[in-house]
Amino acid sequence: MDEPAVTDSALQVAQQRGSKTLRDIQAAIGDELNEFRRYFREEIRSRSGLLDKVLQYILRQKGKQIRPTLVLLSAKACGGITEKSYRAAALVELLHTATLVHDDVVDESETRRAAFSINALWGNKVAVLLGDFLLSRGLLLALRYHDYEILRILSEAVRRMSEGELMQVDKARRLDIDEESYLRIISDKTASLLSACTACGARSAEADADAVRHMQEIGEQLGLAFQIRDDLLDYSSGGIGKPVGRDLQKKQLTLPLIHALGAAENSRRRQIMRIVRKGKKSREDRRRVVSFVQELGGIAYAEKRMEAYAEQARSLLLELEPTPARGALETLAGYIVTRRK
Ligand code: IPE
Ligand code: IPE
Ligand code: MG
Ligand code: MG
Repeated sequence: MDEPAVTDSALQVAQQRGSKTLRDIQAAIGDELNEFRRYFREEIRSRSGLLDKVLQYILRQKGKQIRPTLVLLSAKACGGITEKSYRAAALVELLHTATLVHDDVVDESETRRAAFSINALWGNKVAVLLGDFLLSRGLLLALRYHDYEILRILSEAVRRMSEGELMQVDKARRLDIDEESYLRIISDKTASLLSACTACGARSAEADADAVRHMQEIGEQLGLAFQIRDDLLDYSSGGIGKPVGRDLQKKQLTLPLIHALGAAENSRRRQIMRIVRKGKKSREDRRRVVSFVQELGGIAYAEKRMEAYAEQARSLLLELEPTPARGALETLAGYIVTRRK
């Protein structure tokens, strides 16, 4: 099959305009993303009544598609997009969607992508089974085309994601999380998949082992920045397509609060931990924690760490050949740390 039209010049135009949004980056690889969407839609089809209804709902609420964008741009930056790149992008989005569906069960979250979550509409049983269905469809897609290397990279990411989520549950029960374990959690639950995206992209472009490792490291740094941004958004005033204050409600201590607790005096720390331990927090409880975090510099600290990871990703990107795709990845690094949803 022919590759979709080369859009390097469109990429260049987007960058020259100085546009910083995801929409600009994605518009520049619009044909390639459409090809990915075709695979994705194809793999998500089902003949069974209820399943098909839920899948149609999933297809309507498409997310930002950052991961497929990363796969395609990484492939482009490492030699060129191939049919394998499209399949890797579809596989990644299937796995990602599966984890989000499960994550909303784990976090008892009723909103996702500015709409009701699957568990809110159909209940936990359907959500768990649907997540498994999406995961298996992804694995089967890779097997059908003998994409074993892609399958290996992504299965490893799925293992790390589950371990990260489990460690987070454990930490929320014990409430003994420190910065080091926080970083380990976000590396496993989030950066694992973003680094798999950049690695699979490179791999699908037939890049050599060193280049794949280099791209994987870029994805890791981007992933850490991405999750810190997500955790900062939980402290924002809303409009992010999912509820804010959710992490605190679920006793998930994230970097802003971890840092603030470390910087506080004992009595103040005990006061805040009393709120954290409460089963249900009032609006006033939440307000007190948010201002505590702000006062003790937790937000500023998390922003600084996030920026440092994005900067590290950018400097690793500069070691690649200067192409429009590399430029788009640099722009994406900027988007990841400024995004509002
Ligand atoms: C949400 O990822 C899960 C996290 C790792 C924080 P995204 O914010 O990329 O989700 P969608 O796909 O755009 O909804
Ligand atoms: C990321 O963590 C979820 C996964 C890696 C599956 P969160 O629990 O913070 O994700 P959101 O905020 O619900 O999207
Ligand atoms: Mg979660
Ligand atoms: Mg979150």
